[in-house]
Amino acid sequence: MGKKRLFLINGPNLNMLGKREPDTYGKKSLDDVVTLVEQAAADFGYEVTSFQSNHEGDLVDWIQRAEEEAEGIIINPAAYTHTSIALRDAISAISKPVVEIHISNVHERESFRHNSMLAPVCSGQVVGFGIDGYRLAALGMIQKIESEGRNHS
Ligand code: DQA
Repeated sequence: MGKKRLFLINGPNLNMLGKREPDTYGKKSLDDVVTLVEQAAADFGYEVTSFQSNHEGDLVDWIQRAEEEAEGIIINPAAYTHTSIALRDAISAISKPVVEIHISNVHERESFRHNSMLAPVCSGQVVGFGIDGYRLAALGMIQKIESEGRNHS
């Protein structure tokens, strides 16, 4: 059997991380985020497959893929967080745990960012810790997967 795998999924405009609104999202790039998650996951023997898209349907496809190919998903759905019933339904359709992460503290920003369509169907949410939130999300996700594995054995 291959190594355990996590999917790291990033939504629209996160390909511009580092260049985009650095006062809000910081100066580190998406590649830096991927490295951060890979290192956190490797400590526990997990591998990471990373995917970014600006297109809602592509994100739905990857959430569905996780059912067969990953133990869980770390997702920053970006602006689709606040609008996407399609992403919410995709998460509901799979059995694998999903952790939602936001770089900024969405709750201290515009009111349209306060609501997440996805949070009610996710296992957890990390908000407002900058890109370090991705590492926290990975640790929380792995802890969850490993503790559930133990309960079932
Ligand atoms: C974000 C917050 C969203 O409201 C925004 O649309 C993003 C990034 C964050 O990581 O803080 O694109 O998900």
